[in-house]
Amino acid sequence: MTSHETQPILSIRGLSKRYGDFEALSGIDLDVARGEFVALLGPSGCGKSTTLMAVAGFVEPDAGSIVLAGNDITALAPDKRHMGMVFQDYALFPHMSVLENVAFPLRMRKVSRREREEKALAALETVQLPRKSIYARPSELSGGQRQRVAVARALVFDPVMLLMDEPLAALDRRLRQHLQYELRHLQARIDTTVIYVTHDQEEALVLADRIVVMRNGQFEQVGKPRDIYDSPANAFVAGFLGESNSAPAHVVQRDSGAVRAVINGTEDPIEVPGDFAPAEGLFVVRPERLRVHAAGENSGASLRAQIIDIAFLGDRLRAELQLSDELAWTANIPIRDVMGTEHLLARGNEVRVSWAPADGRLLPDNRGT
Ligand SMILES: Nc1ncnc2c1ncn2[C@@H]1O[C@H](COP(=O)(O)OP(=O)(O)OP(=O)(O)O)[C@@H](O)[C@H]1O
Ligand SMILES: [Mg+2]
Repeated sequence: MTSHETQPILSIRGLSKRYGDFEALSGIDLDVARGEFVALLGPSGCGKSTTLMAVAGFVEPDAGSIVLAGNDITALAPDKRHMGMVFQDYALFPHMSVLENVAFPLRMRKVSRREREEKALAALETVQLPRKSIYARPSELSGGQRQRVAVARALVFDPVMLLMDEPLAALDRRLRQHLQYELRHLQARIDTTVIYVTHDQEEALVLADRIVVMRNGQFEQVGKPRDIYDSPANAFVAGFLGESNSAPAHVVQRDSGAVRAVINGTEDPIEVPGDFAPAEGLFVVRPERLRVHAAGENSGASLRAQIIDIAFLGDRLRAELQLSDELAWTANIPIRDVMGTEHLLARGNEVRVSWAPADGRLLPDNRGT
């Protein structure tokens, strides 16, 4: 999105944190480029907040280092790190006005009253809070407005970077989506570096230049949203980022660039991209990559299925498919592709479900670990 200097602004190496016997972070490494928006994404308890708090200085790591713009800050006090923080509950002071809340970090920094007010007003303008709200108490604002105030307070002292921990999680879906786009535009405009914690995959896709998928205190994959979505490193990532259909599979033949694998123990071997395919694993294909054909039609990479249900979702049909007793898949069929196949798309029909071989993946099955 933005041009990044080659020197990372933040370098994390071998960062670990234990709580008693429990390993919350197990030696993570991460470089963040200046102006980059990095999202930490993962299920509850995977260590997202711990990572962010270690960067902010509120959690003391047991091992590893954090280097900010060339300086080792691993042991530096939080207030010396000049990082702006936005928490999930915003942590605004209820007894202060909006303006006082935003000016607060400057007061802590002994900035003069006049400059405090100027900078706080400018920050509130940046987040486009209506001028009439600046003397209100936080309790008099809507959730979306409070969120803006929290961002303004984090920005007001020109932080080296912005750390945000699920800042939109408490809001309803519509407002969350609206604020996601606002945050995106704001970040592009002020070109600040952001580390953003979320467990909402759509939010990570919308906002981030790069996504870190975490689990059990470790990184499962780090990459651009598109790359992770199209080429998940393993079955956990495929299941966590976006919807996916899966089936057990094993390789029966290896060629250069592709393998042939038996999927779900049935039918003929099917071609799968072979770059990283393990001998045995989980075959994965996205619902929007599937097509539904007549049962007799044999079209390349395909499996037999029965249609269990069809739902109309406005822009697409969603077909629930039964492939075998214990295996169900979902196909999303854009409405414009439905024409001519309406007769096929009915509950109870025996069909073939197909995909382009390049859209399938055979991945290490690490879901249960
Ligand atoms: N102060 C603490 N004492 C003991 N255990 C802790 C402490 N802080 C965090 N943990 C544990 O470390 C693990 C990681 O916590 P963390 O808050 O980083 O998770 P998270 O990914 O932010 O989860 P969530 O999405 O629920 O916020 C959790 O299992 C949590 O219970
Ligand atoms: Mg958390």
